[in-house]
Formats: sequence, C-alpha cells, structure tokens
Amino acid sequence: MARGLRSWLGGCLLVTALGMVPPPENVRMNSVNFKNILEWESPAFPNGTLTFTAQYFSYRKFQDRCVGTAATECDFSELSKYGDHTLRVRAELGDEHSDWVNVTFCPIDDTAIGPPGVQVEALANSLHIRFLAPRIENEHETWTMKNIYSAWLYHMQYWKNGSDTTYPVTCQHDFEVLRNLEPWTTYCVQVRGFLPDRNKTGQWSEPVCEGTISDDSAPSWIVVAMVLVASVLAACLLLAGCFGLLWSIYKGTKYTFSRPR
Ligand SMILES: *[C@@H]1O[C@H](CO)[C@@H](O)[C@H](O)[C@H]1NC(C)=O
Ligand SMILES: *[C@@H]1O[C@H](CO)[C@@H](O)[C@H](O)[C@H]1NC(C)=O
Ligand SMILES: *[C@@H]1O[C@H](CO)[C@@H](O)[C@H](O)[C@H]1NC(C)=O
Ligand SMILES: *[C@@H]1O[C@H](CO)[C@@H](O)[C@H](O)[C@H]1NC(C)=O
Repeated sequence: MARGLRSWLGGCLLVTALGMVPPPENVRMNSVNFKNILEWESPAFPNGTLTFTAQYFSYRKFQDRCVGTAATECDFSELSKYGDHTLRVRAELGDEHSDWVNVTFCPIDDTAIGPPGVQVEALANSLHIRFLAPRIENEHETWTMKNIYSAWLYHMQYWKNGSDTTYPVTCQHDFEVLRNLEPWTTYCVQVRGFLPDRNKTGQWSEPVCEGTISDDSAPSWIVVAMVLVASVLAACLLLAGCFGLLWSIYKGTKYTFSRPR
C-alpha cells in the first residue's frame, strides 16, 4: 500500500517535473509582404521568468533562429519564399524546458499582401491615380510583391466623400484615370492588390481624398479652337506672302509696290 502510494507519487512527480515548464501559447506566424514574425504568448508561470528558443528546419536538422530570448516573437524574414517550412518554439527556465510547439509555414501562400501606396492628383474634373505595389521585406527596393506573383491586379474603389456608394474598378496597370467626375467635389480612393489565379485579396490602403476642380471641357475646347484658327490664319498669311513674292518675281515687277513714282 505504502509502496504503491510512493510509486504513484513518484510517477506523479516525474510527470510534473517533465511537464513543469508550460509551452508558449497562441503560437502563430504574422507575415505581411514576406516580413515573417513568429509570435507567441508567454504562459502563466509563477516560478520564474521564461525565455524562449525558436528554430527552423533546414538541411535535415533544426537550426536556431532566436536563442534564450525574453521576447515573445522571432523574425523569420530570411526564410526562402518558396516551399514549406517547419518552425518550432519552446519555453525555457534554467535547465528545464517545455515541449516544442510546431508551426508549418509556406511564405508564398501564407504571407498577407500589404496595402499598396496611392498617389492621387486632380486635373480639372478627372483624378489621375498612381499605384505603388507593396515592397518586399529584405529585398532590393525595386522588387515588389507584383514581381513575385505571375498575375497581379489592383482592386480600386472610389466614392464621393461623405457618400456610402462606392464604385469598384479593376486595374491591370499602375496608373488609372477617373474622368468626367463632378467638378468641385472631393472624391476618396482606396486600393488593394489582388491575385486572380489564387483569388487572394490584399489589405486595403488608407483612403486618399482629393477634390476635383472645374469642369474644364468647355474652356479646353475654346482654347483648342482658338489655337486651330490662329494656326490656320498664320498658314494662310505665310502662303499668301510666298505666293505674292513668287508672283512678283514671275512678273518681273520686283518691288513695284515700294518703288517711288
Ligand atoms: C513552483 O515552485 C514551488 C516551490 O519552489 C514548487 O513547489 C512548485 O511545484 C513549482 N511550480 C511549478 C509549476 O513548477
Ligand atoms: C513537433 O514536431 C516534432 C518533430 O519535429 C514532434 O516530435 C513533436 O511531437 C511535435 N510536437 C507537437 C506538439 O506536435
Ligand atoms: C470628408 O467629409 C467629411 C464630412 O463628411 C469632412 O469632415 C472631411 O474633412 C472631408 N474630407 C476631405 C478630405 O475633404
Ligand atoms: C473568391 O473569394 C471570395 C471570398 O474571398 C469568394 O466569395 C468567392 O466566391 C471566391 N471566388 C472564386 C471564383 O473562388
């Protein structure tokens, strides 16, 4: 009986000792534009301050990435964008440690597409809009998310400031013009990346608002007409001048009009 109780207690203590340090909780990958941050929460543990070690599997074994850190995140942005990766993290206290918590991560599928940049310029009653594809972490600055995926579109939506009605536009290029808008009106524009072959949408950019100016279609026509009339007149005068000169040479009556009588 006493022996049984002791072995039962011993087993219980052994289990407690092995499982003493609780593992990190809520382990997840937070990845946007291939900036890959493994995040977790420290479990409630009254007996000391836990540290953490995070690793990734490569070349047939786990390699350290963050060792004995007090932080509750570890940056895995240097991982290859392609293929599946196995990551793991555990809590540690002195010589004790928790079980590993494993996470699989496929950057190209799992990373979120961050918001594009947007530049809006009002020209008369149209808005000229330029999109800047999201930049990639740890890459040359000209290398954007658009370069990674074979198909890339922009979803844009615009609305009159203060109105609930939004107008969607799908754009293939980095530049779009909204024409024939209402003059002297503030419009807001928002854009996100979209991968049509994966049916995957990116994060919306913050709205950018810009006011249109006047409806200048009438003045621009007047200007165009005036320029046309002026150039036709100039051409006529030039022709008439040349023709007059030729005529006077032909007639051999040079400078007749200026010869004093
Ligand atoms: C915390 O420490 C106390 C005494 O040092 C020990 O009795 C207890 O089992 C420890 N708890 C854990 C969860 O390790
Ligand atoms: C994590 O993976 C290792 C092998 O890599 C495995 O031994 C262990 O049981 C896994 N842990 C969990 C909680 O799935
Ligand atoms: C948009 O409209 C709101 C009121 O509806 C106003 O407070 C805000 O300043 C406007 N924004 C711009 C950029 O005009
Ligand atoms: C694409 O995804 C959206 C939700 O994100 C879904 O409503 C829609 O049905 C999907 N379209 C296709 C063709 O799978």
